[in-house]
Amino acid sequence: MGAQTEIIGTPRLILRAWRESDREPFRRMNADPRVMEFFPKPLSAAESDDLAERIGGALKRRGFGLFAAEVRESGAFAGFIGLSVPSFQAHFTPCVEIGWRLDSAYWNQGLATEGARAVLGYGFGTLAMEEIVSFTTAANLRSRRVMEKLGMTHDPADDFDHPGLPKGHPLERHVLYRLRRGLTVH
Ligand SMILES: CC(C)(COP(=O)(O)OP(=O)(O)OC[C@H]1O[C@@H](n2cnc3c(N)ncnc32)[C@H](O)[C@@H]1OP(=O)(O)O)[C@@H](O)C(=O)NCCC(=O)NCCS
Repeated sequence: MGAQTEIIGTPRLILRAWRESDREPFRRMNADPRVMEFFPKPLSAAESDDLAERIGGALKRRGFGLFAAEVRESGAFAGFIGLSVPSFQAHFTPCVEIGWRLDSAYWNQGLATEGARAVLGYGFGTLAMEEIVSFTTAANLRSRRVMEKLGMTHDPADDFDHPGLPKGHPLERHVLYRLRRGLTVH
């Protein structure tokens, strides 16, 4: 069913444009405190729909973005994996960021890494990007592990306080990981 809209394919995932039918599983995922542990708070249904709208719109406009991730075997919506362009200013911006968020039912099966590896191939290959970064709050070890498995490197000198969070917020301190073209791990 997803084949005609597949943008990037992996053995287990289809990364594609967003559909209306993604809204409901996306709401469930964004309301889950486990999924949102390292964000200020879970999202309401309206906030989740608004995010889906913004992500889907940016993907259409740019031609790349945070793709909806569909499980190839079941056709289920599992979350998003893809590229984004942060709108805040920091010492490493402007930049292209790789990011991911999956429903907890799909965690720890290597799916984020599998999808992200294909996205890196697309970014460095098809889109000819020179560098792709990723960042997260320092305590988000799951996400940091994905970055490490992808071969991204962390220099503590790049750490930064996320300007979108209030001063002194427990999630404020962020780590930055970088990967340059030609250094992708397969
Ligand atoms: C981050 C996320 C996308 C990872 O998805 P995933 O498909 O489970 O990732 P993978 O299975 O490819 O890899 C997860 C790794 O984290 C490790 N891990 C899991 N829980 C961990 C923990 N509490 N501490 C340290 N590492 C942990 C796993 O063992 C695995 O590493 P391994 O392959 O070396 O064993 C998923 O946890 C998620 O959606 N989290 C909530 C949203 C989020 O935080 N997004 C990132 C914001 S920057």
